[in-house]
Amino acid sequence: MNETQTVRLGVLGCGTVGTSFCQLIQERADEIARRTGLSLEIGKVAVRDMSKTREGVDPSLLSDDAEALVNDPSIDIVVETMGGVDHTKDLVLAAFAAGKPVVTANKELLALHMPELFAAANDAGIDLDLEASVAAGLPFIRALRQSLVGENISRVMGILNGTTNYMLTKMTEEGADYAEVLAEAQRLGFAEADPTADVGGFDAGSKAAIIATLAFGEAVRAGDVHIEGIEGVTSADISNAQRLGYVIKLLGIVEKNADGSIAARVHPSMVPSDHPLASVRDSFNAVFVEGSGIDQVMFYGRGAGGHPTAAMMVGDAVNAAINLRSGYHSKLGDLPPANIRSIDDIKSAFYLSVDALDQPGVLAEIASVFGERGVSIGSMEQENADDGSARLVFITHVAVERNLRDVLDDLEGLDTVKNVGQVMRVVAD
Ligand code: NAP
Ligand code: HSE
Repeated sequence: MNETQTVRLGVLGCGTVGTSFCQLIQERADEIARRTGLSLEIGKVAVRDMSKTREGVDPSLLSDDAEALVNDPSIDIVVETMGGVDHTKDLVLAAFAAGKPVVTANKELLALHMPELFAAANDAGIDLDLEASVAAGLPFIRALRQSLVGENISRVMGILNGTTNYMLTKMTEEGADYAEVLAEAQRLGFAEADPTADVGGFDAGSKAAIIATLAFGEAVRAGDVHIEGIEGVTSADISNAQRLGYVIKLLGIVEKNADGSIAARVHPSMVPSDHPLASVRDSFNAVFVEGSGIDQVMFYGRGAGGHPTAAMMVGDAVNAAINLRSGYHSKLGDLPPANIRSIDDIKSAFYLSVDALDQPGVLAEIASVFGERGVSIGSMEQENADDGSARLVFITHVAVERNLRDVLDDLEGLDTVKNVGQVMRVVAD
């Protein structure tokens, strides 16, 4: 009979994700041992504040010395759930230097330093597992790295942030207030330590960089991603979108162009209400992959929260443990820098709302600006306000971003235009 081998896990951080991870390992240890022959044990847990109570975590495992945990010879695998970048990167590199695989959910770290971290893991001949770093609770990264490796992927488009999807869902369906619903997302454990990372689109931007890197095999970093958040989305935009047959979603989109360049962006988008991404509600995420052979495949699941994230990290820890004990490691490819296409050169249809004087000739003047800049209007609606102004809501045909920006500049310069409101890209049917 084969003996069960013990693998000891050192967990960095014991907050929303780390606590759930420790609880889940304890709950599932027997079943994991039965299925894999490996007994996963929590060996140590590093935290900042030793006085806090951590539900379901044995206090005798706690330490406030993260370096000592990483270098402790009794720890086999490091599970990083503390967030942060510089110090955390040093700890991850120290783990590799000590021959320990690392499991992480830290998209911020990965989006800044993935090529160096991949190279260090390769040099050490050990695993770096990052399933929970993108779309927390859905098993997408391993599918991208393994099942889809033979696929020529052209585009990946997804709802990559649970907090903002939760907020937009509540604002759309219940007319919820922005600040209140953000506080609720924080209370539920969806938001980052600094929630401006969520609402400002930076969290989704980091995830888009990771996806682009893995989908196309070239290094795309956080700074390569064009990012716009949801702060400017108003209740008027939400109701305009609904009336026009769309739902507003914060999308991350990465594309490989025919010239080999890569475009990566995150921004609020108008999604047709019959598109599969339109029905992704609350903190759920979905990732829509398009490729030459598969055509389209969609992954769907809980995109934030302690338990969904921990579930993926437990899977990663089991994978790392199996490889560690068998002496195998999943090589992570070399990542040459990507040729990034500027947002100015990307094509899209656009929604924009313009508040203008309600007078003869104004509409014709505004329409001529679009025409002069080569942007074709697909549809236009007018709503009259009590103050004698008109709100004009346009949806354009597909146009080059640079030309649309010129339209906006020209409109801002017209005396008859009082305000140019939110501009949003529209996803094609
Ligand atoms: P969190 O609740 O703020 O927990 C962070 C934990 O790290 C805390 O226990 C904190 O200790 C500990 N910590 C921070 N700095 C430390 C240091 N220098 N030494 C030792 N411990 C330290 O954060 P979280 O929501 O669990 O997120 C953790 C990571 O998972 C982040 O990278 C995040 O982006 C990622 N992630 C989160 C989610 C989610 O839904 N929350 C989903 C996917 C990925 P104290 O408790 O003592 O302060
Ligand atoms: N704050 C992130 C979100 C956690 O809301 O999606 C998951 O990465």
